[in-house]
Amino acid sequence: MTNNIESYLVENRFFEPSPSFSKKAYVSSLSQYEELYRRSIEDPETFWAELASELLVWHKKWHTVLEWEEPFAKWFVGGKLNVSENCLDRHLHDGRRNKAALIWEGEPGEKRTITYQQLHREVCKLANVLKRNGAKRGDRIIIYMPMCPEAAIAMLACTRIGAIHSVVFGGFSSEAIKDRIHDCNATIVITADGGYRRGAIVPLKQSVDNALKNNRQVHRVIVFRRANNQIQLEPGRDVWWHEEMEKAAAFCPPESMDAEDPLYILYTSGSTGKPKGVLHTTAGYLLGAAATTKYVFDLRDEDVYWCTADIGWVTGHSYIVYGPLCLGATVVMYEGAPNWPKPDRFWKLIEEHGVTIFYTAPTAIRAFMRWGDKWPNQHNLSSLRLLGSVGEPINPEAWMWYHTVIGNSRCPIVDTWWQTETGAIMLTPLPGATPLKPGTATLPFFGVDAAVVDEQGETVPPNAGGKLVIRKPWPSMVRNIWGDPDRFKKQYWSEIKGNYFTGDGARRDEDGYFWIVGRIDDVLNVAGHRLGTSEIESALVSHPAVAEAAVVGRPDPMKGQAVVAFVTLKEGEPHTKELREALRQHVGEVIGPIAKPDDVRFAEALPKTRSGKIMRRLLKEIAAGGQVTGDTTTLEDLNVLAQLSGNET
Ligand code: WTA
Repeated sequence: MTNNIESYLVENRFFEPSPSFSKKAYVSSLSQYEELYRRSIEDPETFWAELASELLVWHKKWHTVLEWEEPFAKWFVGGKLNVSENCLDRHLHDGRRNKAALIWEGEPGEKRTITYQQLHREVCKLANVLKRNGAKRGDRIIIYMPMCPEAAIAMLACTRIGAIHSVVFGGFSSEAIKDRIHDCNATIVITADGGYRRGAIVPLKQSVDNALKNNRQVHRVIVFRRANNQIQLEPGRDVWWHEEMEKAAAFCPPESMDAEDPLYILYTSGSTGKPKGVLHTTAGYLLGAAATTKYVFDLRDEDVYWCTADIGWVTGHSYIVYGPLCLGATVVMYEGAPNWPKPDRFWKLIEEHGVTIFYTAPTAIRAFMRWGDKWPNQHNLSSLRLLGSVGEPINPEAWMWYHTVIGNSRCPIVDTWWQTETGAIMLTPLPGATPLKPGTATLPFFGVDAAVVDEQGETVPPNAGGKLVIRKPWPSMVRNIWGDPDRFKKQYWSEIKGNYFTGDGARRDEDGYFWIVGRIDDVLNVAGHRLGTSEIESALVSHPAVAEAAVVGRPDPMKGQAVVAFVTLKEGEPHTKELREALRQHVGEVIGPIAKPDDVRFAEALPKTRSGKIMRRLLKEIAAGGQVTGDTTTLEDLNVLAQLSGNET
């Protein structure tokens, strides 16, 4: 018996890049990609060194491209540079001085456009504010902000003076802030009075106050005034951003940082236990972010680029701030909810700002499908030329909807697989080169030596399931877990000897395309067959009545595990016995009898993390008939759980 994951979903739809797109693209054919990829894998150091000279500005050149002592990597050893200088100062002299860097819209509707020159000035001023308030190179600074330009300004100001930022997502509770402050020993917090979400004000400063009760480590809180809600300023500790900025000089010299100096810590929830402080360093991270932004989004100077992620996630770090600004792009930033005041807000934004590149998550795409085509159809989306997806496997039906309804069957879709730990996109199509199949992140980016392996680390044959690993170090890789090198080794470098283990299950098809089948921890074992969650979920979503599905295993005396499916339906679809049976049959036809759910449960909503990932761990407990006992602090909406537990129909 093998321990490998079996894979049954067959997807035959196929989309060649359009000749008009390919003609203008940086990489314009599959053979050109293959040639560049081959070079990048045969000699990664030369490949990355060339890109590092091309894409980054340095104070001092490195003497060694890579020092690798598994699991610790050092890239561009001896090199010196500053990230904010790479994202700002260089554009003051390359013709982009008056180009829009950020185009922002608040949820209530205010609009601001900030040029590179203005952004440079704001960042310099805030860097001076930080210095005056005692911040030094290497200090840890927590950023807890709404989605407004000041969030990006705060990040860049930290990098300017060599302080290490840790952004805490603005939807997290005071407990989360407290844990993170404690774990990284932060001394300064940058926050706002509040931010807008679905018409209400999120009281950010108040959460910070709660987090700081009995805390003696944080000596300064800098408060940006955004929502004008009532707040308390603690004398001696809290200061207003605007008052401090008035006193600050408009230039701050960039600190010359070592290539391997820490840039930021970003906490990511482990499925169990306390969050891990993923540590990224300076040069390798910035290079990874910039190189992927250039090639994956095929970024042009005239693009209007919008990534809908929150700045509190790694996607916001790499693809709102560091990658695009390093390349001098125009970045759209939006504060609020996609369905505020109505479910067409995103499409309205695209139309109004002439967005050309749109990067979002499958969870959002499935929500839009559920809300109906009439919302996007009210808007002219013809400015779009490229679409992207990240965060979860995109179900083929959701991909098709995105392609036809949003992209008007015209725009390539880049389904990008990566992680907080990888820092930058790892598996992805290149839009002018890679033929697309709905549901797969296709091929590895340059320099990424990805493989699907068995327990022994042997590559499995095409279409067999296994563990997704990366076999060589890459510049933007996680360097450590803050304060916990043992956990770092154990978590990522002990599962498959000599390889970085991603935690994901995958298969490679006959064209070498990677299909993510789900997290390894979520794999089901049904009568000796190991099944990934994503294929069964995609089969369910391909039924016209279904909006979203999550599949988990329930202990079963006969089969080991029985398949339980939690399903949300499209608007107006009835919760009937007949439909439940029809869905079971449908999965049987699409995948095979082995995957037929034993139990289909209708739900109003699925439990998700704040970044939109389905929390199967909680559903597993519900499916087994028990109470949810695990950690629910990352859950978006606790009510969802109550509904699910009470719902046996
Ligand atoms: C999942 C987000 C399939 C995967 C950038 C990964 C994906 C985890 C994709 C990392 C994709 C992300 N296709 N699965 N295109 N993108 N994932 O750290 O399980 O929030 O390991 O980083 O999301 O999530 P994280």
